[in-house]
Amino acid sequence: MKRDLLDLSSLATAELDGLLRLGLRLKAELKSGLEHPYLRGKTLAMIFQKPSLRTRITFETGMAQLGGHAIYLAPQDIGIGERESAKDVARNLSRWVDLIMIRTFAHATCVELAQAATVPVINGLTDMLHPCQLLADLLTLRERFGELHRLKVAFVGDGFNLAQSWIEAAAAIHFELRIACPPGYEPSQEYAVRLAREKGGLLTDDPIAAVKDADVVYTDTWTSMGQEREAAKRRKDFERFQVNRALLKHARAGAVVMHCLPAHRGEEITDEVIDGPQSVVLEQAENRLHAQKAVMVWLLRPEILAHQGAPASANL
Ligand code: CP
Ligand code: NVA
Repeated sequence: MKRDLLDLSSLATAELDGLLRLGLRLKAELKSGLEHPYLRGKTLAMIFQKPSLRTRITFETGMAQLGGHAIYLAPQDIGIGERESAKDVARNLSRWVDLIMIRTFAHATCVELAQAATVPVINGLTDMLHPCQLLADLLTLRERFGELHRLKVAFVGDGFNLAQSWIEAAAAIHFELRIACPPGYEPSQEYAVRLAREKGGLLTDDPIAAVKDADVVYTDTWTSMGQEREAAKRRKDFERFQVNRALLKHARAGAVVMHCLPAHRGEEITDEVIDGPQSVVLEQAENRLHAQKAVMVWLLRPEILAHQGAPASANL
């Protein structure tokens, strides 16, 4: 049966660990000039209903480095759900390409596409989740800290796709996750319940309580793609939730600052912090490439992930 990557919840712990290890191996090989054309002759179709810098470039470059080819479909190209249903798009693409990535609004569109496609589908961001970003973030933290399960992670900002993806990661790895959002911007009820079930899981409207002694301070834009009309109200509602030097003082001395990017400097994060010594935002962006290459290899050549040796779930 084909697999998809629509969320992190559907990954077994050993698979998540395997993906991180494969990503790190592909990264090391790339840096030492070793080619790894595991996907020679394969084609990836990339459907974008929203803009992108990182996701587009890293999937396209990753596919080229793996010996394959990627096709970019811009928002106006196929009009998924308008010109043609997600189901019909999926059934046509499945006749030509080996893999599909989609960035869209409703998570249901991504699920519908995956159900109708006979080839694997990757979620490149929906309003609900951004699993590829999280894999790159976890890879970055693995490089920095080694084990992940001892970490204290603070997410400060909107309880939207990134915060919900962090809840899925915490449920898989069992690190401590605190989320600070303004009232009215919490994760959905379903995700809030999942967070509450985790040991140390905290949902608060107090950024200082979330950041206290944290190893990781993460933030995201206050106005996500598709919410532009609410920007002025959001700037007001999120005022107390800026990641700045004063807030960072409450974290551990060796804490890292993370942001999925694009950043709105002076809003959710200050220049001083995002450009400062604790920031790992460019490592995260770089690791999108390596994490997604691991995902594509896993989906199309699962035996490569399986042959990586014993699952080291204790390392998570
Ligand atoms: N972080 C991220 O997904 O960036 P893009 O929106 O530029 O793809
Ligand atoms: N929450 C942001 C993430 C961008 C990568 C958005 O959905 O626009």
